[in-house]
Amino acid sequence: MQHFAVLPSLAVLLASTLVAATHVSFVDSEYPTPNLVAGTWSLATANITQNGTTAPAFGDHPVGILIFAPTLYFSELITVDPSTLPVFTSNSKTNGTAAENAAVVAGTLGQIGNYTVASDGTFKSEVIIASTFPNWIGLYRNTTALNETVDGTGRLMHEMLHDPGTSTRVEILWERVGGHGGRNEWR
Ligand SMILES: *[C@@H]1O[C@H](CO)[C@@H](O)[C@H](O)[C@H]1NC(C)=O
Ligand SMILES: *[C@@H]1O[C@H](CO)[C@@H](O)[C@H](O)[C@H]1NC(C)=O
Ligand SMILES: *[C@@H]1O[C@H](CO)[C@@H](O)[C@H](O)[C@H]1NC(C)=O
Ligand SMILES: *[C@@H]1O[C@H](CO)[C@@H](O)[C@H](O)[C@H]1NC(C)=O
Ligand SMILES: *[C@@H]1O[C@H](CO)[C@@H](O)[C@H](O)[C@H]1NC(C)=O
Ligand SMILES: *[C@@H]1O[C@H](CO)[C@@H](O)[C@H](O)[C@H]1NC(C)=O
Repeated sequence: MQHFAVLPSLAVLLASTLVAATHVSFVDSEYPTPNLVAGTWSLATANITQNGTTAPAFGDHPVGILIFAPTLYFSELITVDPSTLPVFTSNSKTNGTAAENAAVVAGTLGQIGNYTVASDGTFKSEVIIASTFPNWIGLYRNTTALNETVDGTGRLMHEMLHDPGTSTRVEILWERVGGHGGRNEWR
């Protein structure tokens, strides 16, 4: 009688192992590896250069997180020093004064999109799906306009933004958040 108790549970175990293995290989084949930019990045410094003059792009103490997901979507939010953003007098997000609205738009940038990497795992291109700066919605950028260059340690990422047709350049230094010895499991 004992066999009959053991055999079905072995069958269940085998079946669930097969399901797990199938699931893992589906995930592995779906997204490219290596992917050097995949991970969570925290903004260290950001500069903007216009007409030969370089200045901080988001004030003195900017805050930003950029996440390049292994799924090839990205999410990014940058703001000026959060304590310098005006708290709305009305306490309603949809009822700011003109000055409050203007300060928030000027002091923040949030966007989501998807991206690609080259076969060596370096950043290749992105498309912006939604942005708090509507002029960039739908924009495609390859490395002619945007470079995300991860250094040899995997801990630092240098962003260079130079939209063709403009003289403005933005440079951002990103620091990797989290462990994996400065690299991540998708490398
Ligand atoms: C840059 O120079 C151009 C042409 O001289 C001028 O129109 C523009 O306002 C300047 N921009 C900045 C940010 O100084
Ligand atoms: C918007 O806020 C102002 C105060 O800043 C208040 O007087 C006004 O009633 C508010 N309007 C709405 C529609 O909530
Ligand atoms: C982003 O998604 C669009 C629509 O599916 C696709 O055409 C594009 O190739 C994707 N990625 C990039 C970076 O263009
Ligand atoms: C980037 O795309 C532009 C067109 O949008 C193209 O002219 C340029 O050659 C591309 N650069 C790279 C490095 O693929
Ligand atoms: C990005 O890197 C490529 C290859 O090194 C270079 O041709 C391009 O000018 C760079 N783009 C920017 C915006 O720095
Ligand atoms: C921005 O400028 C500051 C001051 O010159 C410099 O220390 C920092 O390295 C620059 N950051 C980037 C990303 O270029």
